[in-house]
Order: sequence, then structure tokens, then C-alpha cells
Amino acid sequence: MRKLYIAILFLVVISGTFGCKGPKNGDTDAAIERRVDSVLKLMTLEEKIGQLTLFTSDYDVTGPTMRENYKEDIKAGKVGAIFNAYGVDYVRELQRMAVEETRLGIPLIFGYDVIHGHRTIFPISLGESASWDTAMVRKAARIAAIEATAEGLQWTFAPMVDIARDPRWGRISEGAGEDVFLGQCMAVARVKGFQGNRLDDPRTMVACAKHYAAYGAAQAGRDYHTVDISERTLREVYLPPFKAAVDAGVGTFMTSFNEIAGVPSTGNRYLLTDILRKEWGFQGFVVTDYTSINEMVAHGFAKDEKEAGELAINAGVDMDMQGAVYYNYLKKSIEEGKVSMATVDEAVRRVLRMKFKLGLFDNPYLYCNKQREQNEIMTTEHLAFARDMARKSIVLLKNEAQILPLSKEIKSLAVIGPLADNRRELIGSWSAAGDWSKAVTILEGIYGAVSPATKILYARGCNINDDTVSFISDAVNKARQAEVVILVVGEAHWMSGEAACRSELGLPGVQQQLADAVIATGKPVVTVLLSGRPLTIPQLAQKTRALLAAWFPGTMAGHAVADVLFGEYNPSAKLPVTFPRSVGQIPIYYNMKNTGRPMDPNNKYTSKYLDVPNDPLFPFGYGLSYTTFEYSDLQLSAEKINASDTLYVKVKVKNTGKYSGEETVQLYVRDLVGSVTRPVKELKGFYKVFLQPGEEKQVTFKLTANDLAFYDIHMKFTSEPGDFIVFVGGDSQHCLQKGFVLE
Ligand code: BGC
Repeated sequence: MRKLYIAILFLVVISGTFGCKGPKNGDTDAAIERRVDSVLKLMTLEEKIGQLTLFTSDYDVTGPTMRENYKEDIKAGKVGAIFNAYGVDYVRELQRMAVEETRLGIPLIFGYDVIHGHRTIFPISLGESASWDTAMVRKAARIAAIEATAEGLQWTFAPMVDIARDPRWGRISEGAGEDVFLGQCMAVARVKGFQGNRLDDPRTMVACAKHYAAYGAAQAGRDYHTVDISERTLREVYLPPFKAAVDAGVGTFMTSFNEIAGVPSTGNRYLLTDILRKEWGFQGFVVTDYTSINEMVAHGFAKDEKEAGELAINAGVDMDMQGAVYYNYLKKSIEEGKVSMATVDEAVRRVLRMKFKLGLFDNPYLYCNKQREQNEIMTTEHLAFARDMARKSIVLLKNEAQILPLSKEIKSLAVIGPLADNRRELIGSWSAAGDWSKAVTILEGIYGAVSPATKILYARGCNINDDTVSFISDAVNKARQAEVVILVVGEAHWMSGEAACRSELGLPGVQQQLADAVIATGKPVVTVLLSGRPLTIPQLAQKTRALLAAWFPGTMAGHAVADVLFGEYNPSAKLPVTFPRSVGQIPIYYNMKNTGRPMDPNNKYTSKYLDVPNDPLFPFGYGLSYTTFEYSDLQLSAEKINASDTLYVKVKVKNTGKYSGEETVQLYVRDLVGSVTRPVKELKGFYKVFLQPGEEKQVTFKLTANDLAFYDIHMKFTSEPGDFIVFVGGDSQHCLQKGFVLE
């Protein structure tokens, strides 16, 4: 077996066309194609099907089913990629089986959910996105790739670029939030961070844009549930981050579990071939989500798994994750003429092409470097970055009477709440190979920040999610003895992520009762909220003196939170998602339509509720600083522009407070009249500016007709002449505005 592999390599070398040395990304596309074809020609049908099969190892299972004999499958050439296996020794051994024990010796690809860090864990993706800092987010993905590749991996199932406008849906934690533009920016940052400049660099890994498509639009925020949206909503809201990922060069795509208007994504030729490949020119390969081919039977879209496999491959799915449908039935489908050999060959080509690009044919052990595994994981530099990333993701939602930042010399503090001295929850869901036992607790962070003379009184107060009230009195006693209370409440890590939807979004368990009791002492309370999503906490938000949304901050959680509490870092994050007042307002997002009866408090017959205002608790884009920023002098370079002009939008931003700080200046537009109605506001740009106290800077945005384009009444992507409003401000609600005309 081995001989044949060596013979292929030899052929490759002497032919001159397929040199084994040197950067294979440097190979021209034509050279790679020739190399792919040279392998394809040697393959049997079974070996081809093997390349289209992805199985989990028994190391770390992320879904419901398990195969026990995956090692035998590797040796038999029946599997082309493995996921959930990492660690150099383990990966090397599995790779050795593929390379040395199969007839052709084709190397495996090793994939894993490296979502927000590998060993060093950064904030959950929603938290990272709250930084609105694409350079930081890109670097976080870069570091994740360095650590993951040091442990044998070269494929991550990230970024998740699903727009999510329903916080009941637990997977909102894994993405960039509700907005299309921010979602596109984060998609690009993450793809570039993971993939770097060259895929055969052993410190980069191929990314996977998931879950294609519209997974976040699940009805009632229930995971895996039905999606039924218009073509317009699909194209305007859910597809753009995927398109941005393609334009950024993403190497792979993952199909979503849901159906859209009756067609499951995994069998959706329109999505996978017409849009993804023909319209967008995607060149990489498409993998399913975990057993999503098989699930087309339960969807009622295929009568059995064999037919589901035919629908999938004919729709454009290249690789079957864990379902073993291609493995079990594809040969028969070909014999019956249900699937053509050309279709299979094309799918195999895509997978082989990626293996060449990753450098695996040239060195199957390229990512198996023991030294790197020892030296490049959780380094001081990575941990320092994780701390910075985490503090940049923490959103200051309230700061009454400037209670924050607290003095490090404060005489006494009560640190209260089930998440205050908790380590387990801090790294959040999908924390890959992250080791929660290495996370820094909030209490540890506070101890590390304050003066040795500060007296700290800690009380758990209650558990995260049960109805035990017996420790509340201890918390109240401790609160009474302290100058200030830091209350650390929120969700457990398992309450968001996959299959983690909630119908109520208040504080779980009796935490609200704890908060009420502590607040009732009259002591000033500063709340640190940990969660994987926006929570509906109007009561808490009203009564606490200060509120920080810290998401799940990752390995360096405690230090990052303390940096913000004690003013080592002046918070700069902005909400990437709306915080509703109540679940009944969901879906609530800033760029809604106006309706024919926009809300008028004096007119009953307008669009509103009887029992809750229309506006959210905290709007998209919102986030305070320890300083204040004043916006003035909004200027447009013209009152009228035509389709080929650029409109320059200038605004002055001044730091009018006492601390230096960073502001995220946001630009929104509204198209007042269209052949189809347009949202009341759409984010089209943002800049981060750092200002010293008293300093003022002018920020300039550029707008072109392309930024104003949308799918018109004929579904043509174009801008329409007419009146527009530009808004610039520090969040989606408080903006300066000016009109202009597109001629
Ligand atoms: C999730 C994906 C993930 C895959 C592999 C699935 O259950 O939906 O997001 O990448 O498992 O772990």
C-alpha cells in the first residue's frame, strides 16, 4: 500500500509539474488541478466516497451518534477527514493510519470547533463582536489558529456567521449578533484570522462559514426549528455575512440543520449550487452539519437515508459529517444512476484540492509538531491578549452617578452571587479544548486588583439555577457590612450554545430574588452580568447602580472584569444585539420597518403593545464609557449625489469627560421611499476613535450608491434615486442626522 503512495509522490516529483518542495499555495491553480487529477485517476469509487466522509473520533463528541470503528474505517480508506481529535500524538497516529495503511496514502484533514479560542479561551463570539474591533477579533482567530494547529488541527468549524435576532435561540452566543453589516465585518475578520495569508502555513487553518443558511431565523427561537422567510429577507439579512466570508476567501462551508420554506439546507440546490457556487463563485468544499443528511428523513424531505444522500450530493454537498450516508449508500445510488460519477468526482476534487492547499500531500505531518505543542499553547502573550480582548468586550450599560470605576483603595467590598467565585462557567459554550479550571474567577480578579487593605466579603447568595434561598440572608449580611456590593449574576455556560434555547430570559433560579434582597440593603450595587445572550432584566437594570454585560469572558475573565471595575480599562464595547425588556417583544432589533401605523403613544390604533413600550431596554450599538463623548458638526459633502459619486460624511467627536477613552462612531442610513419598504435605520459604517480628555477628532465616512443598494421590487440589487437620511452617533438611537438626495 505504502509503495503506491510513494510511487505517486515520485511520479509527482519527476514530472516537474508537481514538485513536492516549496510552498504549495505558490502552485498555480492549474498545477494544483493537475495534482488533484493525478490522484483522482488512481482512485476506486470506494476510495472516492471515503474522501467525502467525515467521522468524529471518540475523543470529544459534539453530537448524538457515535461510530466505534472509525479507526478501521481510516485504515480501509473509507474516511477522508476526522473531527474532534487533537493533540499531536493522537493526530499523528490517526494520520499514520491513513498515510501508511491505506492503498493510496491520502492524508486526512483534522477538523474541530475552534470557535473562540482553542486552549486560551477568548470571550464568546457575541462578546468578541461587542468590541466592534475587527483587528482584535482577527487576532483572536489568529491565536486560536496558532494553538489549534500546534495540536494537529488544520480545519475549524468557524466562524458562525448566522445573523440572530431572537435571543431565545441559544446559538446567538456563537455569532456576531443581529446586524448584517457588523456580521459581515466580523465574518471577514475571523476568516482572515484563521486562514492567514497561506493555508499551507502550519500556523493557519482553513475556516468554515456556518451554518448555511438562515439557521438563526428558527421559529420561536427554538433550535433546529423551521425557517420560513422571504427570498428578500434571506438575501438582505441572512446571506450577506456568508457572501462576505466567500469574498474573504473562506475555504469551506457548512450546511445548516433547518429547512427554509420547505427545503432543508442540506438538500437545497438553490442555496448550495445556484447561489454559493454559480453566483458567488465559491471554490472550496461544503460539509454538512452533524448528521444533517440523515435528518432530511425526519424533515419529511427524503423517504430514506439513501434518497437523502442523493438529494444532498446533487444539491452540492461534498462531505457528509458523521451521518455515514455516503459511506453506506452512495455506491448504490451511482449504480442506479441517481447520482452521476461526474458529480462524485467534482466533490472529491474539491476535498483533494483543499488537502493540497493545506500542504498535507506534501507533508501529512505538517501540523504534528511536538515542539510547537509544548511552546505555543497558552503563552504569556496569548493570555495577555485574552485579557485585553475580554475587557474590550465588556459593555457598560449603566453607571449612575459615576459609581464606576471603583477605587482600588476602597475599604470594603461585598462580592456576591453564584458566578462570583465560579470558574466553570467563565469560558462559555463551545470552548473547544479550553480548560475551565485555568480560568481566573471574578473574585480572584478583584483580589488581584484592590489594595491589600481592602476588606472583601464574599457570599454565593444562591445557586445559578435552582430555588435554594437559604444563603440569601448571608449575602444580605455581608452586603450590609460593605461600602459597595459587586453582584455577579447570570447564566450557566450550558444555557446558551447548541440545543440551549430558553423561553424566559430573566435571571435563572432565584438570582433575581438575591439581587432584590441585596439592593434592598440600600448599599450601592454594581452588577456584573454573565450570559450568552441578552437577558430581560428591566427590574435589575433599574435598581442596580451600575451594570456591566460581560458575556462569558473566557480564560482571563476575572482580570478583565477587574480591569473594568477599577478603571485599569475604560469600557468601550457596544451592544451587537438589542436587549429586550420582555420576551414578548421578540423579535426586536434596531433596523425594523416603520409599518403603516408607526407607534404613537396618543393613538391606540398604532403599532404597539398594551403592556410594554416598543423600545428595548438597551438598543443595538449602545455602551457607555467612564468618559463622555459629544458629537457635533455633522456635515455632508453634498446635498445631492449621483450613482457614481462618493458622499463624505464628517462628524466631530469630542471627549468631554475626565478619562481617556475609545468611542465607536456609528453611521446609519435610511432610504425614505423605495420600490419596496426599507428599514428605519441600517448600519453602514463604524470607526473607533481614541480620545484624550478634551480632545476632539473629526471622523470621515464614505458612502457610495453601492452602500445604499438593496433588492428592489424585481429582486435586482441596486440603489434607487430618492431621499435618504444619514445618522451618526454612539448608538442606534442617539444620533445626529442630515438628509441627502440620490439622483
Ligand atoms: C453543530 C456545529 C458543529 C458540529 C461539529 C453540530 O452539532 O451544529 O456547529 O460544528 O456539530 O461539532
